Amino acid sequence: MKIGIYPGTFDPITLGHLDIIQRSLKLVDRLIIAVSSRTNKESTFSAAERADLIRKSLSDLNLDLEVDFFDSLLVDYARKKGAMVIFRGLRAVSDFEYEFQMALMNKKMAPDLEEVFLTPDQSYIYLSSSLVKEVASLGGNVSDFVTPSVEKVLHSRFAGKSASAPKH
Ligand code: COA
Repeated sequence: MKIGIYPGTFDPITLGHLDIIQRSLKLVDRLIIAVSSRTNKESTFSAAERADLIRKSLSDLNLDLEVDFFDSLLVDYARKKGAMVIFRGLRAVSDFEYEFQMALMNKKMAPDLEEVFLTPDQSYIYLSSSLVKEVASLGGNVSDFVTPSVEKVLHSRFAGKSASAPKH
């Protein structure tokens, strides 16, 4: 059985992430969505909230996948789960340097593990969780960028806070 991992912060999950998930599913028998619970960035949602939003978004799309947490090295987590491939999305050239650096480091630590980069649909190329939060916090419509479950939570989280956008 081919097991794949799609790791990220998902703060929150967007339609761009879900697009990558659907593409990844074509390539493995089992896909684990791994939420990083130790992030360098200050997150708006707790790891439990982020995982909950992923589960709700998957259910909005009638997908039933494992959502898990990790706070170790990604390669150690992948080994523990018996995964042979890590999926990452590449939206634009600007993602490339960071992703390339991480992929090479991961390859050095775990030569047996493959990293696969997938490009999202072009309608999601410009999307990021921070941008979605900024639009939501300023009262903008985010229904083209996130599932109804995430939209609802964003609106209640930012209700009455339209003057202060989240920190990047
Ligand atoms: N659609 C929309 N947005 C996307 C996207 C897509 N397909 N793919 C990435 N993004 C956005 C995210 O929304 C996020 O936006 P933000 O910065 O505005 O919040 C940004 O791109 C990066 O997010 P993500 O894909 O979640 O990556 P990350 O940098 O947050 O996560 C880890 C990186 C967690 C996978 C990485 O740090 C890691 O592996 N950590 C574990 C520790 C480790 O092993 N470190 C050594 C690595 S060599």
